[in-house]
Amino acid sequence: MNILASLKERFVYMLVINIMLMVVTTSSAWALQCKYKTENSWSGGFVARIILTNDGPTTTQGWSVTWQQSDEAKIIQSWNAKLSRKNHYSATHTRWNRSIEAGESISFGFLGKGDDSAGTISTCTSNGEPSGHTPEEEDRPSYDNERLYTHAKFPIGIAVTADPSNDRSIYALSEKRKTIKKHFNQLTAGNIMKMSYLHPEEHQYNWDDADKLIRWAHAKKIRVHGHTLIWHSGYQVPEWMTNYSGDFEEMLNDHVRTIVRHFKRSVVSWDVVNEAIDENTNCWRNSLFYQRIGPEYIANAFQVAHDVNPKVDLYYNDYSTEDGNGAKFACLLELVDGLLADNVPIDGVGFQMHVQIDWPSASAIASAFQAIVDRGLKVKLTEIDVPLNNPWSSVPFPQYTSLTDAADERQKQRYKSIVETYLAIVPPKLRGGITIWGLWDGDSWLLELGDRQGVDDWPLLFTGPQDGPYKAKEAFYGVQEALMGADYFRQDEGL
Ligand code: XIL
Repeated sequence: MNILASLKERFVYMLVINIMLMVVTTSSAWALQCKYKTENSWSGGFVARIILTNDGPTTTQGWSVTWQQSDEAKIIQSWNAKLSRKNHYSATHTRWNRSIEAGESISFGFLGKGDDSAGTISTCTSNGEPSGHTPEEEDRPSYDNERLYTHAKFPIGIAVTADPSNDRSIYALSEKRKTIKKHFNQLTAGNIMKMSYLHPEEHQYNWDDADKLIRWAHAKKIRVHGHTLIWHSGYQVPEWMTNYSGDFEEMLNDHVRTIVRHFKRSVVSWDVVNEAIDENTNCWRNSLFYQRIGPEYIANAFQVAHDVNPKVDLYYNDYSTEDGNGAKFACLLELVDGLLADNVPIDGVGFQMHVQIDWPSASAIASAFQAIVDRGLKVKLTEIDVPLNNPWSSVPFPQYTSLTDAADERQKQRYKSIVETYLAIVPPKLRGGITIWGLWDGDSWLLELGDRQGVDDWPLLFTGPQDGPYKAKEAFYGVQEALMGADYFRQDEGL
């Protein structure tokens, strides 16, 4: 019901007409058959596909299709093909769908503006045949130049290294600043706004690095998400706090109050409490804060933060809660329901999304998001990364020792599915945004983790080198395609 309602709201301006299976034209040559199929159309737009079937005896080593749309139509986005930008359109294979085995079909799709979705195929050729031509490997079409964040009405964020003494910081690398500025409109500091960095001594707060980052961000019209006011993680808890002998509850409240007050005009949302759940110990992590105060430290922190800044969005943030069927998620709901029952001012739930390529399933993720949406809370994907190697898989680790085309494509589909799930389940007013935990693969915190055995995992949207220029991976296009196209597919599915 919720999904239906939100879709109605989103598409109220569209006259949705489900014209399924509107096959317009077919063309064939030698071994290849090409079929144009309108998937969906509405007043002002359409989604269509061209299906290529290899009827010949050998595998294709590339293909190209040309076709004409009516003058009323303009293709604005495509997927799974390299597309020319104007009518007559032509599309060629990408790196991963060059080969079509004998008897197999593949398809590529596109999104068009305009009222006429009809298309007429002119040529349909596979490489090697006499009448065909061999398309050169080209760079991606001009979508590369589009800014990722322009495709979303919610924040598209990135975690950054902002310790000025770090040679990977944004201050050290101009290409990093350039790419971040181009594609993202929200920042999270990877480390410098955590407890021990901001509050190293009882009576000392270090604002300089965070203020510097915020100044840089604001000058570029980028907003800042605060991470994080309270976090158990050993090295992030300042030593003086661990040994504190005064009124611990008041001290912690004061910590929250002082930080939220300092950033009152500069931070739009906070991870108020990070990782307070442990499903193995009756849901509560046995942290310093839990030991000294009990579970109330969570409600206290939200209340104090809200009292200082009623406008800032306040999130509870955790990892491995994305599995809507898991024990940890059940704990999350208990926590959230308790806070709501006590009228604690929580605005949303942050899902870190340090997921695996194959875990959790899209449907488990969807049910986790849905449960939070059902409670009227915002959903924010706060720290996404998708490593290709999974140390907990039944397939021996590492599953990949290089970033093959197939791996690149698999990762793209995973990123795409995560963003599509987000768009499908979370209605616009509850979308807190999505943030990727680092810019390029070599920046990923996962490489520091022991269980990764020093193997590259290629978890992010860009490849290096370290000082740039950074190149968008297929994963980037997966996110972009989901942002641009998911809404249209929702209609297809009759949601
Ligand atoms: C990580 C940082 O990326 C690393 O640089 C640091 O060494 C450890 O912390 N969940 C969180 C983040 O909430 O704060 C963590 O960030 C990654 C896991």
